[in-house]
Amino acid sequence: MSRAFESLTIGRWQLPQRFVMAPLTRNRAGAGHAPTTLNAEYYAQRAGAGLIVTEGTAPSEVGQGYLDVPGLYTDEQVAGWRLVADAVHARDGVVVAQLMHAGRIAHADNKDGAETVSASAVQAPGEMVTASGPQAHDVPRSPGTDEIAGLVADFVTAARNAVEAGLDGVEVHAANGYLLHQFLDPTINLRDDVYGGTPENRARFVVEVVTAVAEAIGADRVGLRLSPGHQFNGVGEELGPDLSATYRAVVDGIAPLGLAYLSLLASPLEPLEALVRDLRERFAGVVLLNDGFGDLTTLKSVENLLATGLADAVVVGRQFLANPDLAERWRTGAELNEPDQATFYGGGAEGYTDYPTLEAS
Ligand SMILES: Cc1cc2nc3c(=O)[nH]c(=O)nc-3n(C[C@H](O)[C@H](O)[C@H](O)COP(=O)(O)O)c2cc1C
Repeated sequence: MSRAFESLTIGRWQLPQRFVMAPLTRNRAGAGHAPTTLNAEYYAQRAGAGLIVTEGTAPSEVGQGYLDVPGLYTDEQVAGWRLVADAVHARDGVVVAQLMHAGRIAHADNKDGAETVSASAVQAPGEMVTASGPQAHDVPRSPGTDEIAGLVADFVTAARNAVEAGLDGVEVHAANGYLLHQFLDPTINLRDDVYGGTPENRARFVVEVVTAVAEAIGADRVGLRLSPGHQFNGVGEELGPDLSATYRAVVDGIAPLGLAYLSLLASPLEPLEALVRDLRERFAGVVLLNDGFGDLTTLKSVENLLATGLADAVVVGRQFLANPDLAERWRTGAELNEPDQATFYGGGAEGYTDYPTLEAS
């Protein structure tokens, strides 16, 4: 039997297998950035993932970036997430909300004119899709040192709201060039206070957010996602001693908390292998791995990643998007639906809840 189908305990959850559903932004939240019954149906269809990490979800209006992304900062949003939690639990799944503050990857038109903040006032390259078409990203405002506690508090409130909605926990998103990653990256974080400069200072905000969230809802239902050196959304991190020191500072800062898991988006091959190995050893808890946006994750690649010994489980994105019953298909060697890229971001049921299960096809 494949190692992929060995059970695994992550935090307070007993999972049937060693692959979980990746956070996937789908831009289909309803009015007021609240999840809908359609969103609940989508997640419920994928309950067989064992653990679902939801799409990136904003902890505040300022933290919104893309069109139609859900939030966890209003009563309507909590009610919407309750639909999701109840539907996934009815099918024995586990679902945690990924808390994603977009930082500078944002446009005010996507958030009722709310402002955009980042570590420093450095505009992201590229454009953001808005209702009136693509526009340059906002030039962010750099919050003062005395405002950082308020940003931390937003994550805590959102985490409490996730629990209030009946979700099983949260994943703090410090990867892929969003706010927390913007603080880690020395090309975006130009601050000269205690949140900038040295690797330890750049790591401080991430450590403070994760620590506060873990204290608020319990470390055993909190995960953290990192993507060291992932040059996405204008991230300029380069491989080298500064990168290693920065991510070591993050992991050393959060390791004593006893989090449910650390999720790394990184290739475990050279040149990142040594860093991934180092972070895994320093963390000393459950490590989830995803090797990036290139090829689709296959059952074979799950097995290969597990065989490196660098991960306890693998995070699977597009195959779960296209195959609600992926675990069953992989277990039985059945054919797979192809993900349709044209319907990844935005729209309705098409390319969302209409991928057939084996049973239906
Ligand atoms: C449509 C889409 C949306 C994504 N949204 C998020 C997100 O909200 N948060 C995140 O951390 N990663 C996000 N990712 C990255 C995935 O979690 C995953 O790392 C990536 O798809 C590579 O894994 P795969 O080859 O198994 O698809 C997204 C990827 C895709 C394709």
